Amino acid sequence: MKVAIYGVGEMGSGVAKLLQQRGIEIVAAIARSPEKVGRDLADVAGLDAATGVIVSSDAEGEFARTKPDIVVLTSNSYLADHEPFLATAVRSGANAITIAEEASHPWRTSPDATQRLDALAREHGVSIYGGGHEDAFWIGLGAQLIGVSHRVDAIRWESRWNPDTCGPEILSSLGVGERPEQQTVTVEWQPNMPRPPFALPALDGLAHRLGLPDAPRLVTTEFVLAEKPVWSWALDRNIEAGEILGLRDTVVREPQAVGEPLLQFTVSGVLRPGVHDSGESWTVEGVPNLAMETSFSGGTYQVTGQVVNRLQDVIDAAPGWVTHAEMPAIAYRG
Ligand SMILES: NC(=O)c1ccc[n+]([C@@H]2O[C@H](COP(=O)([O-])OP(=O)(O)OC[C@H]3O[C@@H](n4cnc5c(N)ncnc54)[C@H](OP(=O)(O)O)[C@@H]3O)[C@@H](O)[C@H]2O)c1
Repeated sequence: MKVAIYGVGEMGSGVAKLLQQRGIEIVAAIARSPEKVGRDLADVAGLDAATGVIVSSDAEGEFARTKPDIVVLTSNSYLADHEPFLATAVRSGANAITIAEEASHPWRTSPDATQRLDALAREHGVSIYGGGHEDAFWIGLGAQLIGVSHRVDAIRWESRWNPDTCGPEILSSLGVGERPEQQTVTVEWQPNMPRPPFALPALDGLAHRLGLPDAPRLVTTEFVLAEKPVWSWALDRNIEAGEILGLRDTVVREPQAVGEPLLQFTVSGVLRPGVHDSGESWTVEGVPNLAMETSFSGGTYQVTGQVVNRLQDVIDAAPGWVTHAEMPAIAYRG
């Protein structure tokens, strides 16, 4: 398998490390900053051994030259920024797995871009998949958990994480360091609205996975503001008092018919200097009542590990944008 990495930041570097440790061939690496371009990937990503891959800003040229089977995209959060990168990968004849948060199920948040990419992937006979944390956890775990249920009235899940353990891209996606106009905002989300909260495509992905029809989703965003200066490792500056330190998004999909469960997902992404734990809690109300806690520590493996474990599934998938529901259960491939 020949793999290219698009975005050599925290996540891309982590994926590169795991690929090297598993003996999977890396053929190209794309970044944009002059500090990275022109250097060996091993040097930029902190790998154990040289790769012979020189980081380039010319994705189209590199993919045409090296012909990867799959491109791993670790560069952006939203399809509005990400569509051209995915299109470049697909046009080169490569499959693509992206960790863009919106990509976990973008059909309802960015339907036009998703349909364009789906058509392009079919035309080129390759597949696109939104992987990353959402895959095994925010969508996969919910679907798996209720496999034991007799009746499901509500699924409520909550994720807490520290965005400062990722790179600067995610902090700008969340608006960290900006000043909000209002501290709490509630909207019924409409297609093509900018910056869909990370919880929304994941909730849409689980709803789709459960076979629920499209329904309105209410999104409440509460900004958490710094009360005193807080150092951000990723931004390399203080978040000043009154600036956004993080946010708590809650997405709710009410049942539309008898037998449908209520879905409610909250994601709390708030900077906590030096804190490296993250995790989730799940409750299922129904028969039986269920509860589950997950917790992670030790870096970004819960994202990068599952991306690497998914590569072969994406290559094997039917052409087009592949939904979570169409994928096999994620499996360890070490
Ligand atoms: N779904 C998930 O589980 C999950 C988990 C973590 C992160 N993410 C998302 O994944 C993305 C990457 O996260 P990260 O922590 O690795 O961020 P990061 O450290 O800021 O890295 C982003 C990388 O993308 C590159 N990049 C951005 N725009 C580019 C462009 N136009 N051309 C070439 N390269 C470009 C940057 O290049 P330069 O360094 O050269 O500027 C950088 O190397 C973020 O959007 C984040 O929200 C998703």
